Amino acid sequence: MPKENISASVIKRLPRYYRFLAELKKQNVLHISSRQLAENMGLTASQIRHDLNCFGGFGQQGYGYVVSDLYCEIGKIIGVNQCNPTILIGAGNLGKAIASHINFDNKGFKLIGIFDSDTNLKGKKIGEFEIMHTDVLKDFCKSEKPVAAVLCIPKAAAADMADTLIEYGIQAFWNFSHYDLKINHSDVIVENVHLGDSIMTLSYGLNNIRK
Ligand code: NAI
Repeated sequence: MPKENISASVIKRLPRYYRFLAELKKQNVLHISSRQLAENMGLTASQIRHDLNCFGGFGQQGYGYVVSDLYCEIGKIIGVNQCNPTILIGAGNLGKAIASHINFDNKGFKLIGIFDSDTNLKGKKIGEFEIMHTDVLKDFCKSEKPVAAVLCIPKAAAADMADTLIEYGIQAFWNFSHYDLKINHSDVIVENVHLGDSIMTLSYGLNNIRK
């Protein structure tokens, strides 16, 4: 099946499969059936078979999946070994937390620069990175050719920054800014993160499911 026909919900589950398989590998589990994997993950066996069949299927009837093979295959499908050069814009509280706590390297990305428009932050360090002023963004993008950006700036600044970054060659955004990037740029790849949505989903569960 061509990759573009795979549903968003299947793609969303891939990192979860990858994480579970990593745990199984750590526990030295060699084989797992779709039923066992389903039990571990709170899914159904047929859902797992359906999801993995989207990519060609990796199990054998009556034998299940070889954990390390499936882990490698799913890693390849996600692209965890790619090193897509990535920049982070906005070195405030959120930007600092993301730059410090997310390991980009084993997720398909390589963080190569952090930028902020606040001149007071220029030269300050986050881990191994010295924060650069956005004045040098154009030259940096020209020489280092980042393809992805993490947006940790306020919504009001995000539209202009997204336009600029796309002009400089950015093709994918990990967008925390609450600005709907797809409105003006339907062609870029965007993963929006709204932690507030997540806790509101929790609120719904607490108020409607438990009561
Ligand atoms: P902050 O105020 O600590 O940091 C924002 C940083 O962006 C500042 O250092 C500022 O100088 C910089 N900045 C502003 N305009 C810029 C521009 N045009 N170019 C480069 N840098 C620029 O704010 P914080 O707490 O880090 O949050 C950042 C944004 O992320 C906020 O708008 C907030 O609403 C949003 N946010 C989103 C979350 C989510 O789940 N999506 C969670 C938390 C915050």
